[in-house]
Parts: sequence; structure tokens; C-alpha cells
Amino acid sequence: MTDVLDGVRDHYRATGLTLRLKAALAALGPEDRPLTPEQLAALDHFHTRGLAATAELARLVGMSAEMSVLDVGSGIGGPARFLAATLGCRVTGVDLSEPFVEAARYLTERTGQSGQVSFQTGSALALPFAEGSFDAALLQHVAMNIADRPLLYREIRRVLKAGGRFATYDVVLNGAEPHYPVPWARTPETSFLLTANATGEAIEAAGFRRLVWRDDTEAAKAWITQLRASGPPPAPNLGTVMGPDFAQLAANLGRSLMEGRLGILTAVFEAAPIR
Ligand SMILES: C[S@@+](CC[C@H](N)C(=O)[O-])C[C@H]1O[C@@H](n2cnc3c(N)ncnc32)[C@H](O)[C@@H]1O
Repeated sequence: MTDVLDGVRDHYRATGLTLRLKAALAALGPEDRPLTPEQLAALDHFHTRGLAATAELARLVGMSAEMSVLDVGSGIGGPARFLAATLGCRVTGVDLSEPFVEAARYLTERTGQSGQVSFQTGSALALPFAEGSFDAALLQHVAMNIADRPLLYREIRRVLKAGGRFATYDVVLNGAEPHYPVPWARTPETSFLLTANATGEAIEAAGFRRLVWRDDTEAAKAWITQLRASGPPPAPNLGTVMGPDFAQLAANLGRSLMEGRLGILTAVFEAAPIR
């Protein structure tokens, strides 16, 4: 288990990330001018369909200002900052990658949201929170890095209140393994894809009731087609975070989706009472 987590940490090691972000963000203005979550969207939403997918997930959950929200595998924090800015809720992010958490805190200072949005280093398999701490939890493009899905979903259930909402937006296996390297794994050793049905079954077995179930593969394919037509994204973008091979990783995800090897699942669940 530790070997696998070390492999995943390695993939998201992002050496010198905060310093590289500081340098790249100079293109958006001086350090003392606050940035908006929208200005950072090409950089800090690390999933297909970017900011639009996060907004859609929040709508499906019925997220609101009084909710306390956990973002599991929060990356460099784009979804957390966007939700706090648009809905007014408090958001806590937790991520395995120390450099990502450091970068998430830095970017949150730059958007002036440190009072409302916070980040901690930790594993989704041992969430550093007490039972029943949150009204809602998000998991966006993270599960494919996690082998022990029963434990992952039990941990998310544990930290949610009864009746709380769990939204998952993830890459699923359709027909065949993807073309590696992909954005979440440079080799198959750190990729643990399940089919949509197996994902749903594992979530329900952890104490959840299904509310929304949607195949978003076609929407992801349309987004990729549009990206290909519009050329390289404006800098700074996810290449700043993941390094110069990111375009290749993203292209392999696109190709694997287009060939029907992979799909995209959006689903929302309600936390059943713990017996
Ligand atoms: C593709 S990124 C998605 C980041 C973020 N959810 C987003 O959509 O912008 C996957 C993230 O999952 C994190 N991750 C992978 N395995 C994890 C684990 N076991 N516990 C916590 N975070 C994990 C990685 O460090 C990385 O930040």
C-alpha cells in the first residue's frame, strides 16, 4: 500500500511548484494584486471540462453557503476556491501531494480566500477528520489513483454527516486500458480504474444511496474536440504544474476517450445513517 502511495506521490511531485507558479503568475499582474478563481482556471482545475464540470457538480449536489464542504484529492485547489467564491461555503481540501498543498495555500493567499478555504496534506484512505464533520464531499478525478476503493468510500462516508452528499466525477474503464502515460499516471502501476458499474457498487456498499447517475463521456469528448481546435491553452496552464510532458499525457487521455477505452462518470450520493 505504501509503495503505491509513494508512486502516486512521485507522479504529483511537481518539484519547485510554488516558485514556478510565482514566476508564471507574473504574467497576470503584480504579486499584490488579488487574483480571481476564474483567472486561474486553466491552471488549477485538474480534470476534464475544468471549471464548468466543478460548477455542474455543485449544482447537482445542491451546494449552498451554509454547507461545510470537503474536497478529497484537492490538487492545487481550484475547485475549492471556485466553490467558496461562487457559493460562499467553507471548503477544506486534503491531498496526498505536499507540493500541491503548499501551492494550493499560496494560490489561496493570492485570491484572498485563506479565511474561507484551507488545505491539509493527507491520504484519502485515512482522512484527518472526525466522523460527521462535513455536509458534502467532492472527489474529482482522484479515484483512478486509488486501489482500495472500499476503504476510500468508507472514509468519505465516515467524515460525512448522515444525509450529507457525496459527488464523484471520475474517469472509468470502458473497453480497454488507456494509452499510457495519462494525466494521473505515467505507468499502469499507479492507475486503478474501475468500470462505472463497479464504482457505483463500491460506493453503495460503503453506505451511500444513489441520487444522480450520469455518463458524461460525450460531454468530455466534445470538450476535447473543442480544445484541439482552439490550439494550446493560454499560459499559465496545467503544463506549468505537471511539466513539459503534460500535453502528451492530456493527448493520451483524449485518444483513450475517443477510442471508447475510457468513460467519464458523474454521480451524486446521499450518506445513509451509519448503523
Ligand atoms: C488529477 S488530480 C485532481 C485534483 C483536483 N481534484 C482537481 O480536480 O483539480 C488528482 C489529485 O489526487 C491526489 N491524490 C491521489 N491519490 C490520493 C490519495 N490517496 N489521497 C489524497 N489525494 C490523492 C493527487 O495528489 C492529485 O492532487
